[in-house]
Amino acid sequence: MKTWRFDTPSQTLVLASEGGVPHAVYWGPSLPECDLAEITKAARSDVTGGMLDHLAPISLCPVEGDSLHAQPGLMAYRNGTLIKPKFWLTAEAEDGFTCQDDDLGLSLRLKFEVKGEVIEASSRMVSEDVLTVHHFAAPVLPGPQSGKILHFSGRWIGEFRPERSLWAPGILTREARTGRSGHEHPPLAYFCEAGATNTQGVVFGMHYGWPGGHVMQAEELPDGRRQIQWGHARGTYGSGTEFETGVLALSVSNRGLNGCATAFQRHLRDDVVIWPDENRPRPVHYNCWEAIYFDHDINVLKDIADRAAELGAERFVLDDGWFGKRDDDTSSLGDWDIDPRKWPDGLTPFIAHVQRLGMTFGLWFEPEMVNLNSDLARAHPDWILGPVDQVEGRQQRVLDLANPEVREYLFDKLDAILTTEDIDYIKWDHNRLLPAPDAAQARGLLELLSRLRGAHPNVEIESCASGGGRVDAGILRHTHRVWLSDSNDALERLRIQHDAALMLPMALTGSHVGPRVCHTSGRSIDMKMRAWVAAQRHMGFEMDPRELTDSEAEVLREITQWWKDNRDWRMTADILRLECSDPAIIAEMNLAQEGDRFVVFVGQAQSSSQILPRPVRLTGLDPSAEYTLVLRTRADAPSLSRETPALKQEELRLSGAYLMQQGVVLPWSFPETMHVLEGTRVS
Ligand code: GLA
Repeated sequence: MKTWRFDTPSQTLVLASEGGVPHAVYWGPSLPECDLAEITKAARSDVTGGMLDHLAPISLCPVEGDSLHAQPGLMAYRNGTLIKPKFWLTAEAEDGFTCQDDDLGLSLRLKFEVKGEVIEASSRMVSEDVLTVHHFAAPVLPGPQSGKILHFSGRWIGEFRPERSLWAPGILTREARTGRSGHEHPPLAYFCEAGATNTQGVVFGMHYGWPGGHVMQAEELPDGRRQIQWGHARGTYGSGTEFETGVLALSVSNRGLNGCATAFQRHLRDDVVIWPDENRPRPVHYNCWEAIYFDHDINVLKDIADRAAELGAERFVLDDGWFGKRDDDTSSLGDWDIDPRKWPDGLTPFIAHVQRLGMTFGLWFEPEMVNLNSDLARAHPDWILGPVDQVEGRQQRVLDLANPEVREYLFDKLDAILTTEDIDYIKWDHNRLLPAPDAAQARGLLELLSRLRGAHPNVEIESCASGGGRVDAGILRHTHRVWLSDSNDALERLRIQHDAALMLPMALTGSHVGPRVCHTSGRSIDMKMRAWVAAQRHMGFEMDPRELTDSEAEVLREITQWWKDNRDWRMTADILRLECSDPAIIAEMNLAQEGDRFVVFVGQAQSSSQILPRPVRLTGLDPSAEYTLVLRTRADAPSLSRETPALKQEELRLSGAYLMQQGVVLPWSFPETMHVLEGTRVS
């Protein structure tokens, strides 16, 4: 029996092997130094009637024929016949194992790497013969024996909706078959032991980094054990001799969801994203989409740019409509040449104008797509994926990125514009589902992105897919920001970004101040609320600044300035979701890495059922330290807030213990408003 352990500051994974593929004998919160052979012995279960005579372990790669009778982690076919490998452990290294089946000519590499508080796990298989792989999972781990599964659904303008399921015999499957990680089944799940909340309890987190669509299967076996598998969407690996899963990020926390959430936030920001310059402050964005849509008029855009800069924007992003003959969404995707009707002198004079205002310039592309009404589709109908009579999405089709000629064409087009124009940012969109999911398409995309990144290392890229349709660590290895949602409705956004913080840090999460009357909900929301919600993440503006009243502009300028004054420490701060006893409240904290300061955002999403606000309990503080508290928004209390709770008029000085055990009482407020409370450690 051989044993190994992998440790992060908060988790331990113990693996054992009796000569075959290793299996997990312990995965959970950190263990002290210990005898791993004893742990392996202790984990061994009994058997009883109605079972085989020996309990087969749930290996890192269960296969047919291993006597487990459970969902296999590998389903591969040679000449149409399912192979039933018998792998033997043949090599071990610091970062994992190699197992081989010499009779079948197979080599399986199981990789584990510790990155901060996360373990990255992935699998790779090489075969001497051509195989067709239907399913191949990243290293398979046991699920906890108590509690619930927290997984996510979502839709356009309604991303990251939490779903809760009980474990039960059988399989809970979440599968993204749209060719992207998708709105519908974000590749994230939490396995929460009974009683776990945002701030306490044992929680296991898993996130599968792959932009081409994935499957998660959480299976409870008849004997009561549980296994969790993640891989590419089934049937998408295709045929060949080399197969690789995405990277499965693993975290464990004994301080509730927040422990895993912050592990993922830090991992994405510090280990996954490759920043052109990590010390460069994230600039405040202006994006013109909801201001002008396809209607590009240079004089109007200059006026908008002047106003955006005056409000505090530092990067101007020119959205859809600048290329081909793109007057609406029925044409021109694929024709990545500047439209001379709208831009007779090209983009250079406008970029110069933007730069004179102190802003950098970003440009929208949707490279993977094509309209049939385009020169590209007319010249290369063979470059389009799927049947001729397929149902279109937004009048568009998908280019075959597995084809190197297509990638060459796209590289040349983007490279030409990035070379001739001074562009520091691409908004990279992907607005329709694939006709059929295919890993080769995602591999082609990643290759194109990495070539472009190599040629233009200073250009940052945003991943957008009708909002948050492609948010995962696979795409974030090549990009720097996600457009989390097309919903600029501050109330919806408050909820979406709060739930997405279960994996996304502030630095990567775009959030914009939308128009006064929201274009996706019809709701009118006060500027203070709109601006504070955007200020919770990577802030930007997306309304037509010509619609702003003087007082709205003043509020926006002030909150933007607050955002800039605080961005340095907040960019590396953790987002901690607060446990609220009032369901009308969505509250979270940004806690500086050094623990010396924080800001609490308390969103009153709707009217509360009780008359007065319940105290909001903070988290993550040093119980014995004292903190001063200032209510930044105290002047906003409406006249119906008739008394004077202390924070309405003065600073308070309280211990971490009090703040976490009792909480703070805030003034009564209207629905659809935000309280912002700033805290500083004083002892
Ligand atoms: C998608 C994006 C929007 C905008 C439009 C442009 O819908 O999510 O933000 O860029 O495309 O067509």
